[in-house]
Amino acid sequence: MTDQISYMDTAAATDVGVDYKRRSVVGLDLHPGQIVLDVGCGPGTDLGRLADAVGPGGSVIGVDRDPLMLAEARRRHAATAGVEVRAGDIHDLPFADASVDRARADRMLQHVRDPQSAVGEVRRVLRPGGLFGTAEPDWDTLAVADDDVATSRAFARFVAGRVRNATIGRELPRLCVRAGFRVRSVEPIPVLFRDFGTADRILGLRRNTDRAVEAGVLLDAVAAAWLGRLAAGPVVAGFTVYLVVAVAQ
Ligand SMILES: C[S@@+](CC[C@H](N)C(=O)[O-])C[C@H]1O[C@@H](n2cnc3c(N)ncnc32)[C@H](O)[C@@H]1O
Repeated sequence: MTDQISYMDTAAATDVGVDYKRRSVVGLDLHPGQIVLDVGCGPGTDLGRLADAVGPGGSVIGVDRDPLMLAEARRRHAATAGVEVRAGDIHDLPFADASVDRARADRMLQHVRDPQSAVGEVRRVLRPGGLFGTAEPDWDTLAVADDDVATSRAFARFVAGRVRNATIGRELPRLCVRAGFRVRSVEPIPVLFRDFGTADRILGLRRNTDRAVEAGVLLDAVAAAWLGRLAAGPVVAGFTVYLVVAVAQ
């Protein structure tokens, strides 16, 4: 399994991951028989839950542009009734206008080339009245508690700087309205880690600190002391994910 897939599995298995994913599916108000897209489905994390909600007469289509993700999603769902996995890019979805009832994009818009055209493309394939659910982090909210606030801030800025659309979470309602949706709900989800191991796995405390040192953003000794205090705990490290449900007009 690739590092990227095991990262996604780890994130989905955290308490907050389980909770927001459950809420994101509830927000889609799925009914038996519906057609639902999971765009940027990754290794197929949520396809089974979506298939349960639309039942045997429904259809779940996971779309991703990465061949490794597609292979893993297909492997995991080879025997899941009603689930299909297709190669595709959110900027040019392989579906007719107004052909699906529901669509979701879970932590993928942060990575796309053109978020506005991506959301517009989701709007195109949804039937009027169809729902779009999306959950995206806002990396400018990343905060790590430590006596050395300057290093915590430098770490947070460095992490945000590595993400293509780092502030996408707060932008979701505006992107949706501009693409022809009415925004039904906007929920901030606080993501908080209180143990070093989970914070390190999800936020890459050690990995990103090493990178920041390599990039000359942090001094080696300062970074090592910062990490040492974090490892000793107590840890308070988190950020906000925005969960948005929008209705196609
Ligand atoms: C952080 S992962 C999230 C996967 C899954 N939604 C989850 O919650 O576990 C983002 C996924 O979006 C996919 N992705 C990124 N840009 C994409 C694009 N332009 N079109 C389709 N998929 C894309 C990536 O290949 C990756 O699998």
